[in-house]
Amino acid sequence: MYQLKNPQSFIHIVNVASLAALYPLPYYSVYGASKAFVLSFSEALNYELRHSAISVSCLCPGDTNTNFFYNAGNTNKKKSLMSAERVAKAAVDGLYNKKTTIFPGSMKLISKIPRAVLKKVIAMRVSKYKI
Ligand SMILES: NC(=O)c1ccc[n+]([C@@H]2O[C@H](COP(=O)([O-])OP(=O)(O)OC[C@H]3O[C@@H](n4cnc5c(N)ncnc54)[C@H](OP(=O)(O)O)[C@@H]3O)[C@@H](O)[C@H]2O)c1
Repeated sequence: MYQLKNPQSFIHIVNVASLAALYPLPYYSVYGASKAFVLSFSEALNYELRHSAISVSCLCPGDTNTNFFYNAGNTNKKKSLMSAERVAKAAVDGLYNKKTTIFPGSMKLISKIPRAVLKKVIAMRVSKYKI
């Protein structure tokens, strides 16, 4: 296993997934599936590298105030958006604490909800979309 002699030379990798990594997301089906891949891959890789000087964290933000929805052509109103600065701060705090998964703000609570319940909640939410 690759190990650096100088413990100060720690390498932190942050992969950006999404809360959408946790459940199937209709109308963003490929996006959600690719984020599920990023989360699974990051968690497994972090375990494989546990004795090395490299840590892998996976950032899983919820809805964030960026150009994302505009770029995706999604005009549906979002109830609450987290600021990009808050998400970035959570990412930096998380990576220095070698967190495997980083759920900014209250998103950690959502990550604890059983998948079957999340699937129903998301189905109800997207049923209101104007497609
Ligand atoms: N915003 C959210 O609600 C949200 C929630 C969860 C996860 N995320 C994730 O956060 C990450 C950043 O998204 P964002 O919210 O910042 O969206 P964004 O405002 O749309 O920004 C996307 C960024 O990706 C760059 N990009 C797009 N296609 C690229 C390509 N083929 N090669 C290189 N760069 C490319 C864009 O560069 P240009 O400006 O040069 O085009 C832009 O800087 C994404 O992985 C997204 O899935 C976002």
